[in-house]
This record gives sequence, structure tokens and C-alpha cells, in this order.
Amino acid sequence: MERVHEPDLAGVAAGATYLRGEWCEQVFAQDAPLTLELGCGQGMFAAELARRFPSTNVVGVDLKGHRFWRGAKAVHVGGLLNAAFLRARIQWLDHFFGPGEVGEVWLTFSDPQNGDKRGTKRLTSPHYLRLYQSMLREEGVVHVKTDSPEFFENTLRDGPLAEMVVEDSCDDVHGAEPGRFDPVLTDLLAFKTAYEQRWIDEGRSVHYVRLRRQAAVDVEQLARAKRMLQGPPGAARPHFTRPAR
Ligand SMILES: C[S@@+](CC[C@H](N)C(=O)[O-])C[C@H]1O[C@@H](n2cnc3c(N)ncnc32)[C@H](O)[C@@H]1O
Repeated sequence: MERVHEPDLAGVAAGATYLRGEWCEQVFAQDAPLTLELGCGQGMFAAELARRFPSTNVVGVDLKGHRFWRGAKAVHVGGLLNAAFLRARIQWLDHFFGPGEVGEVWLTFSDPQNGDKRGTKRLTSPHYLRLYQSMLREEGVVHVKTDSPEFFENTLRDGPLAEMVVEDSCDDVHGAEPGRFDPVLTDLLAFKTAYEQRWIDEGRSVHYVRLRRQAAVDVEQLARAKRMLQGPPGAARPHFTRPAR
């Protein structure tokens, strides 16, 4: 579909970049901050973000392209020119987005990966949080919604380890008292993703954390995070050209 991007993952792993720093100019009809939904699954939340916030550009990212077919269809049918989907591995995110290009990141019901001691699988480990910060604007935020108490606790612990401020946290979003969140966030958190509905139906509570970037990322820490997530830098870094549609 028109608004779906499927870069050659092998090329990216070999060092290529794709639309990095060029999303607003090449893909969207407006110059606006990007909001990313990472591990977007069906992509309906990303589509909803685009519908609710027309002056924001939204990119849903997932490795499994068939999963976001529904969201891509909704964006296409709804004529949402401020939304796109990217089929990619999150560990290579800095090959797709440049420093300061992203305003907000949403992590919705990420796999908890509770046994991930090296921090290379859990999407809120310090390695991943440093990677996100390298593309976040100053004061940019990472929103996390999860049904997993362990993922929630690990995120609260690891935010400060990655120099991020825990700005808000709540262990029962849908049971929170009225006025607990500002009205815009209240409405947004009320939207349920596919996995969220599944976990609610099983009687699980939904947790929320918001982390804010407070400092520039330490380049050495970032290099270490990238080595952990991506391996050593590739020898060649050819520029990746967009596939013909
Ligand atoms: C549990 S599902 C949640 C889907 C959706 N956010 C929801 O709430 O319905 C996790 C999603 O993250 C994607 N995912 C997991 N690890 C990923 C990675 N490293 N890179 C890209 N996508 C990833 C999976 O393909 C899957 O669609």
C-alpha cells in the first residue's frame, strides 16, 4: 500500500539508511514532529493517533508487515496523509530516524521479555531507551502501556538508568479515578489496542509509564547500546535507495 515502507532489511543491517531525516519532506505533506508506535501490531493505534492529531506525523513500526495491514488500510481509506507504516526491526531504528526527528514514542504491549538479562530484547531496557533518546527531541517522551507487572517495574527501574525522568506512572489505567490524567491523555489511553483488549478480557490490569528525555545522550553509552543491539558497525554504509512502488 501507498503508505507502507518496506526497506531491504539486509541492506539496513549492512549499514544503509532509509528516509533518515527525510520523513517530513519525502513522505508527509507537512513539516511536523514524528510520533512513533514501536511494535505497532495491527497498527490501529498508530492510525488513531494520526486521526486525532492531524498536525503530527505518525509512523507505525513492526517487523511483521502483514500485521499492520489493517492500520495501513484504515490510513489509506481515511486519507490520513500524516500516517505511514515501516516494516523494520526496532534495533535498527537509528537507520530510519535521525537526531531530533522524533517527538514521541509509544510502546504498546511490547513482549515483556522478563528473562532478558543482557537488555537486548526488552524494548525498555537501557540499551533501547538510549537508542530512542538519540532520535528524540529535547524533552521528547516515551509512553509505555503494558499488561505485564514485570515489564512495568523493569521500565520504572531502567528509565533513570538511561538518564530518563519517570514523569508519570499508573498501575491501573482503566480503573484510575476521573481526572487522574489530563483530558487529552485520558481519551488517548481509553483507546484499546488488539492485545490490550485481549488482556483486559483475561482480567488483567493495564499499566502506563511516561519517560521524558532530560539530557543529551552520552555518545559512548549510545555506541555501547548500538553494539549490544546491532553488533559492531558494518564496514560499508551504502545509501539505501527507496524501492520503486
Ligand atoms: C505483543 S504484540 C503488540 C502489538 C500491538 N502493539 C498491540 O498492542 O496490539 C508485539 C508486536 O511487536 C512486534 N515486535 C516485537 N519485537 C520487535 C522488534 N524488535 N522490531 C519490530 N517489531 C517488533 C511484533 O511483531 C508484534 O507485532
